[in-house]
Amino acid sequence: LSESFSTGRLAGIRVVVTAGPTREAIDPVRYLSNRSSGKMGYAVAEAAREAGASVVLISGPTTLDAPAGMDMVRVESAAEMLDAVQAQLASACDLFISTAAVADYRPATPAIHKIKRQMEALSLPLQPVTDILASVAQGNPRPFCVGFAAETENLLVSAQKKRISKGVELIAANQVGGGLGFDADDNELLLVWEGGSKTLERASKIRLARQLVEQIAELYAGGGT
Ligand code: CTP
Ligand code: CA
Repeated sequence: LSESFSTGRLAGIRVVVTAGPTREAIDPVRYLSNRSSGKMGYAVAEAAREAGASVVLISGPTTLDAPAGMDMVRVESAAEMLDAVQAQLASACDLFISTAAVADYRPATPAIHKIKRQMEALSLPLQPVTDILASVAQGNPRPFCVGFAAETENLLVSAQKKRISKGVELIAANQVGGGLGFDADDNELLLVWEGGSKTLERASKIRLARQLVEQIAELYAGGGT
C-alpha cells in the first residue's frame, strides 16, 4: 500500500529524523520528560522512506513499533540523542528533521541513590540542555534542517522567530492544546520557511507527514542541491 504513495522525490537522499520525548534522570528511578508520543516523528520518518529516502530514525522512549525499512537508534536522554545524531552526521546526512520533543533542562546532578521522601519542600537545580537542532544547523558542512515547534500561543510569529534563531530552512509549527498536538492522532501544521508559509489543515499525522515531506522535497530541490 505504501508504495502507492511513493513519490520518489527523496530518492537517494539520506535523512536523519529524531522523534519522541527524552528522559532526564533525577535519580535511578525517576526522570523529567514530556507528553510527546513520537507519532508525528515516526510518521515523518515513514513518509520520507515512502518518498525514496534512506532513513535513520533516532527515537526517545515511545510505545511505538520500529517502522519497517529504516535503521532505528533508541536513546533515552537528550545527551544520548545528541551523540546519536552526531554519529549519523559524521557518516552522512543530507536532511535533518528534528521532530523530537527534546528536554530544555535536565537535573544538574542526578542523584546516585533514590531520593528519600521528606516533609520539606524540595528544589531540583536544572541545567540547560544543548539545542540539538541549532547545533546541527551551525555545523559546516551541514544538512538541510527542518525543525518542529510546539506552541500554545502566537503560532506564526513564534515559528518565524524560531526558524531564524535556530538558523534552519523550515519550521513546522503546531498549536498544542484543544485535543491537538502531543499524543493525538490528528494534528495541523503551519509550515514557515524563508519567504513563505503554508497551513496544512487538520488531518491524520501520516497524511500531514506526507504533505510536509512534499514541501521539504520542493524546498530542498530549489536550494541548489
Ligand atoms: N530541539 C532540539 N534540542 C533541544 C530542544 C529543542 O533539537 N534541546 C529542537 C526540537 O526538536 C524542535 C525545535 O528544536 O525541532 C524546537 O523545539 P521547541 O521546544 O519548540 O523550541 P525551543 O527552542 O526549545 O524553545 P521553547 O521550548 O522555549 O519554545
Ligand atoms: Ca523546548
